Amino acid sequence: MSSKESPTTASSDRVLIFDTTLRDGEQSPGASMTLEEKLQIAELLDEMGVDIIEAGFPIASEGDFEAVTEIAKQTKDAVICGLSRANYKDIDRCWEAVKHAKHPRIHTFIGTSPLHRAIPNLDQDQMAERIHETVSHARNLCDNVQWSPMDATRTERDYLCRVVEIAIKAGATTINIPDTVGYTAPRESADLIRMLMNDVPGADEVVFATHCHNDLGMATANALAAVEAGARQIECTINGLGERAGNTALEEVVMALKVRHDIMPYRTGVDATKIMNISRRVAAVSGFAVQYNKAIVGKNAFAHESGIHQDGMLKNAETFEIMRPEDVGLSESNLVMGKHSGRHALREKLRELGYELGDNQLKDVFVRFKALADRKKEVFDDDIVALMDDATTSAGNDRIKVKFLRVICGTEAPQSADLMLEIDGKDHQKTADGDGPVDAAFNAVKALVPHTARLKLYQVHAVTDGTDAQATVSVRLEEDGKIVVGQAADTDTIVASARAYVNALNKLLVRRDKSAPAEPIAAAE
Ligand code: KIV
Ligand code: ZN
Repeated sequence: MSSKESPTTASSDRVLIFDTTLRDGEQSPGASMTLEEKLQIAELLDEMGVDIIEAGFPIASEGDFEAVTEIAKQTKDAVICGLSRANYKDIDRCWEAVKHAKHPRIHTFIGTSPLHRAIPNLDQDQMAERIHETVSHARNLCDNVQWSPMDATRTERDYLCRVVEIAIKAGATTINIPDTVGYTAPRESADLIRMLMNDVPGADEVVFATHCHNDLGMATANALAAVEAGARQIECTINGLGERAGNTALEEVVMALKVRHDIMPYRTGVDATKIMNISRRVAAVSGFAVQYNKAIVGKNAFAHESGIHQDGMLKNAETFEIMRPEDVGLSESNLVMGKHSGRHALREKLRELGYELGDNQLKDVFVRFKALADRKKEVFDDDIVALMDDATTSAGNDRIKVKFLRVICGTEAPQSADLMLEIDGKDHQKTADGDGPVDAAFNAVKALVPHTARLKLYQVHAVTDGTDAQATVSVRLEEDGKIVVGQAADTDTIVASARAYVNALNKLLVRRDKSAPAEPIAAAE
């Protein structure tokens, strides 16, 4: 067990943060991430002091197995956890992936509510036996075993106590209580933890965890109520990413415990100043933009527009602010940069925004920054973040690159796009019509790179105010059940759109190459 993970009994004030962005978050339809993106998110989670990273579901796919394995090898401090159903094959596969970690954990679960018991068609006794066998098996492989009764909040209370006791006796070290369908409410969430901790023999030897979904908008409140009742591990995701309405948001519980320490005297090990950076990164790679009025990380979370608020803020920031923007890593100044800003100023700005770059990387980013500053008089913090996202997304080894694009658009149809792509080092050009310039550009891409992937999402965001603002475009493609998200930023929305589409195609090629050797891409001339 990691040193970070020590005292966690109910008498301790330390609450463990278990991040499941890469498992429950990624499970959210459409939020699929590449291996590189997962490794990067895991690194940021580790750096920010998250205690446990649930890195994936190793049996689910080769990609998940590889991601958990690589994250296990790379991570310095955090415990690396993998998910597995309640059978030996899943658990063995999970162990194969997490065993490389300094601090590995196996997380095994089974649905215990009447509705979930009906799926494998097990009666209460048969399920109890299965839990005993699988948790014992996991514990024989790994010292650190987490067990979850899925849909715990809709499980009969006496049966829940019985199976939790069995899991503890079989060697589970953490008992997680999932509110799988976001059904519970704060008082009930607290009562459940209290009941288990009071009534189950051996409960004082394990850590109780809370895992809440946000279907009724109570995930954060339910998690905090569970902590007040004695839970010492909160399971959560960055930006509350997750299936349906999402999971408990990491940034919300961490900041709630900080800001209201007076009434909730618990600590986490998370460096809150790293929140904004990872929030932006998760939004970029998942293609799930953060809503403007989202607590803590929304664009408007610290914006004070109304006259009364602005007046109060100028006199004393505490009038309307319960936390400072810099507490969550929003830079104090929004110092505007421009074409006369030098490399040193850019490095300082990047540092302030949470990016530490080596000399070569800085050189590349500086070239991009200059190109942007030539087109845009004032470059704001958000522009730099978009530029960094763009630089990370478009890797130098991409097989397809946008070389040239000119569109004809306006009131007279048809709109058309003349596009040149470099494909595997060779230039190919095509003109295509479409219903609007974006459609025309996408048709030109399809003509040059024929494919069967279907467009599932096309989303444009203005990075800043003003008509010269950069646009960040996200494109989600689906091919044979594989989902990829492409992203690009540019002051020209159509260029950003074409580049985002091509970025998604490049990711699809990487995915295809993992199952079959690389083939030449058919480029229709
Ligand atoms: O919501 C849930 O029940 C889960 C379990 C697998 C822990 O995510
Ligand atoms: Zn869940």
